[in-house]
Amino acid sequence: MKDRLQKLGEQARREMAGAKSLDELNEIRVRFLGKKGELTQILRGMGGLSAEERPQVGQVANEVRAAIEEELSARTASLKELVKEQKLRSEGIDVTLPGTPRQLGGIHPLSAVLEEIQDIFLGLGYSIAEGPEIETDYYNFEALNLPKDHPARDMQDTFFISGEILLRTQTSPVQVRTMEKTAPELPVKIIAPGKVYRRDDDATHSPMFNQVEGLAVDRRITFSDLKGTLALFAREMFGEKTKTRFRPSYFPFTEPSAEVDVSCVMCGGRGCRVCSHTGWLEILGSGMVHPRVLEVSGYNSEEVTGFAFGMGIERIAMLKYGIDDMRLLFENDLRFLRQF
Ligand code: DAH
Repeated sequence: MKDRLQKLGEQARREMAGAKSLDELNEIRVRFLGKKGELTQILRGMGGLSAEERPQVGQVANEVRAAIEEELSARTASLKELVKEQKLRSEGIDVTLPGTPRQLGGIHPLSAVLEEIQDIFLGLGYSIAEGPEIETDYYNFEALNLPKDHPARDMQDTFFISGEILLRTQTSPVQVRTMEKTAPELPVKIIAPGKVYRRDDDATHSPMFNQVEGLAVDRRITFSDLKGTLALFAREMFGEKTKTRFRPSYFPFTEPSAEVDVSCVMCGGRGCRVCSHTGWLEILGSGMVHPRVLEVSGYNSEEVTGFAFGMGIERIAMLKYGIDDMRLLFENDLRFLRQF
């Protein structure tokens, strides 16, 4: 019986030492030490032993059990260590692997152009003003010298919310709103960027688009201030070689009024498809603030003068980047936007 016990002990330890996983080890433990295990079976047979033999066999049995348990805990520890190592190895980071590139966002061409315009005018001492997109008939038209039956309203049909409330068609109402707030202080030097709305929709017109308004009011502001400012703006925006041309025009809120062209950004003025072979591109409307606009805004038109201008940001972006359809700027197609 002692022999059987010793052999059993050796076998158990050998098997445990060879166990490849904690599960396998546990299965071996149950097989030898469990309630129905082999060691237990042998010990049950001890009843048939003589009184002298019993303690001796009991001692051997205890030693064998202790040896098996020792092996069991040693193997448990080493298998746990192994599992940990494998886990570490499989979860490790290979720093030599190429990384997953992160998609970087970009600045929308409209925002880029607006930021550039703002930078130029902030550099000239202008500040940025804002006004509501839902505007009253008074600020959008009336105060800008466009009474109810004025034919110039035709070009700026818009979305009316009620008879007197509408989506602004231009950023020009911000002129009046700003002057009302500032009068009688001088000078007023602001640009006012923002969305405007009109009943237009084709490749070069959108029912919603963006404008930047400019306004400078002070004593002795002259038309040459306007010319100098816009010539400088055009050179900064489109390049040092850009020429400007002022053509007489009409706006109800300026007198005199002018439309401003720049030498074509594509052909430099030689004539191409973009400029319809004229060498010039129209970029904005401008003029000397009409005395009536100064007066309704709280300034004495005998003492102060001012100039104003307004440009479409989409148009500037289209000219600058050679974009031929305005709708591309609003469709958010990444294949288009990634080009900037
Ligand atoms: N508000 C005009 C438009 O949307 C543009 C404009 C023309 C603005 C002349 C001005 C200006 O400030 O002086 O067509």
